[in-house]
Amino acid sequence: MFKIVDRKEMADGTIIMNEIEAPRIAAKARPGQFVILKANETGERIPLTISDLDTEKGTIEVIYMVIGKSTALFKELGVGDGYQDVIGPLGKPTDIEKLGHVVCVGGGTGVAVLFPITRGFKNAGNKVTSIIGARTKDLLILEDKMKAASDELRVCTDDGSYGTKGFVTEALKDVLENTKVDLVVAIGPVPMMKFVSKLTQEYNVKTLVSLNPIMIDGTGMCGCCRVSVGDETKFACVDGPEFDGHQVDFDGLMQRLRAYEEEEKKAYDEYCAAVGQ
Ligand SMILES: Cc1cc2nc3c(=O)[nH]c(=O)nc-3n(C[C@H](O)[C@H](O)[C@H](O)COP(=O)(O)OP(=O)(O)OC[C@H]3O[C@@H](n4cnc5c(N)ncnc54)[C@H](O)[C@@H]3O)c2cc1C
Ligand code: FES
Repeated sequence: MFKIVDRKEMADGTIIMNEIEAPRIAAKARPGQFVILKANETGERIPLTISDLDTEKGTIEVIYMVIGKSTALFKELGVGDGYQDVIGPLGKPTDIEKLGHVVCVGGGTGVAVLFPITRGFKNAGNKVTSIIGARTKDLLILEDKMKAASDELRVCTDDGSYGTKGFVTEALKDVLENTKVDLVVAIGPVPMMKFVSKLTQEYNVKTLVSLNPIMIDGTGMCGCCRVSVGDETKFACVDGPEFDGHQVDFDGLMQRLRAYEEEEKKAYDEYCAAVGQ
């Protein structure tokens, strides 16, 4: 069992942080990598990014949004409980090097995925400008950690309840207009990554995105996480999860993410009815 040693609720309990005892994973994991977790014997395998780690304590942190049956089941796990399985680190680590000026753009829970990458680029000696956004102030996460990992942090909310009103793409356009940018890293909802990539293509700035297709084995065997990148089919679990945003077929990814929508809704409704939610 992989014991939960700390737990925090954010955004009115819709986003949860679990710090989990997993010393062997903590010793090996690099920014950009993820784990696959299973709550119990019959549980679904759920991929979540390692949003932070502590090698001395031998723990990793995951931050997830409660959106369906399995993440609702995860929400029930308290400090002292554990995940039956935590497998990882999986995926290719981010290629972190000194490039000059790196702009890190995060939306929603994507900020949890972006944080260790942002810190990695800052520690490698880059100037880092970060732009984080959420639909509303209550859904914004990790502002303090992102601030500490960046030279400059801009915050946007769709409804203007905090920071600048508007999408992260508007703040990014302002940065691209006024400064030389060597790399953009964009992580968040698929439409956000699509529009960030469209914008940076106009400015000819290399852009990395982290893809979140449905995954099962996480080892390149099942083919479930396939994505089209350029003219090639790639498996996000072993070839990614990061890819060149200018090459990704985002519309195909969105279509594949909707493949089990009905079944996912039915499973969630049945779970909520069973636990009286
Ligand atoms: C490599 C990788 C890293 C990830 N890291 C994180 C992370 O750090 N934090 C986090 O909150 N999530 C992360 N995800 C997404 C997370 O795995 C899914 O949200 C989770 O599997 C949903 O499970 P569920 O059973 O609760 O919901 P489901 O029943 O599977 O889905 C409920 C609803 O959410 C939608 N949905 C399902 N999967 C996704 C998805 N991958 N992206 C967007 N919408 C989806 C469905 O269309 C459905 O409407 C990651 C995914 C991948 C592939
Ligand atoms: S999840 Fe099975 S091939 Fe990637």
